[in-house]
Amino acid sequence: MARKIIIDTDPGQDDALAILLALASPELDVLGIVAVAGNVPLPLTQHNSLKIAELAGKPQTKVFAGASKPLVRPLVTAEEVHGRTGLDGPDLPEPVMKLHKQHGVDFIIETLLHEAAGTVTLCVLGPLTNIALALNKAPEIASRIQEIVLMGGGFFEGGNITPTAEFNFYVDPEAAKVVYASGVPIVMMPLDVTHKALTTAKRIEAFRSLGNKVGDACVAMLEFFERFDEEKYGTDGGPLHDPNVIAYLLKPELYSGRHCNVEIETASELCLGMSVIDWWGVTKRPKNAIVMRDVDHEGFFTLLTERIATL
Ligand code: BDR
Ligand code: CA
Repeated sequence: MARKIIIDTDPGQDDALAILLALASPELDVLGIVAVAGNVPLPLTQHNSLKIAELAGKPQTKVFAGASKPLVRPLVTAEEVHGRTGLDGPDLPEPVMKLHKQHGVDFIIETLLHEAAGTVTLCVLGPLTNIALALNKAPEIASRIQEIVLMGGGFFEGGNITPTAEFNFYVDPEAAKVVYASGVPIVMMPLDVTHKALTTAKRIEAFRSLGNKVGDACVAMLEFFERFDEEKYGTDGGPLHDPNVIAYLLKPELYSGRHCNVEIETASELCLGMSVIDWWGVTKRPKNAIVMRDVDHEGFFTLLTERIATL
């Protein structure tokens, strides 16, 4: 039976590729996509979520709008990376699909209460606002979540929006704190993993050679998305973050890491949103997340390209 997932997301070109990968994979049953404010404001992330579901040829996908701002802080966005629309690059048609009326947080709660306990995984590709709101509103869902697999944080690699913080955690550190304190099993894809998954020229050519509409859209998204990080890091290609969350569900053997304690910094001005990872077990704090550190990046891109070829 396909694994049931909810994708919580702020598309974002890398979010878009993650959504495409999930919708292309028969092992996964995407119960819904919930947009959150992050890379760009909510009206754009919800609109982009609809565009991507249509691009995948899956207009029956349920798409919801979630939170429009972090729990307590003003929203920080990343147009310099993702462009004004959040999905700059391809020329995608206006979506015909409509958003579902229910609030995304209520959809998450209702789904977890309705489905059998331990059978729904939350795949989180943006700030953790919606998940924290759901856990705060209905704490009884915590024990019913199979797993939270998320992109966020960084340790040996440091941060990408400040020297110590990764964007998703920086935007809503209080929400990340709620999630890491929830007791829900967490698998974490930090920058240490995603910075090894580079969109090299050869890998972009592989999408181009698919010769289909979705492959061409991926090329346009990636060519736009990578320019910022290529300049910043001086690499061939930029890090492809969010699809690692979905690839882990399909092929966990591509990843290796360690069960650790992770705490989120919410008080410090300098280190706000930092993921403090006790990799060496120097504290007695409880282990609350599997922190991935390595990825078979060739295997990851092969999987991604093969699946997108089927759309
Ligand atoms: C994360 O921040 C966003 O810009 C990306 O979509 C990804 O989820 C990387 O730090
Ligand atoms: Ca994202």
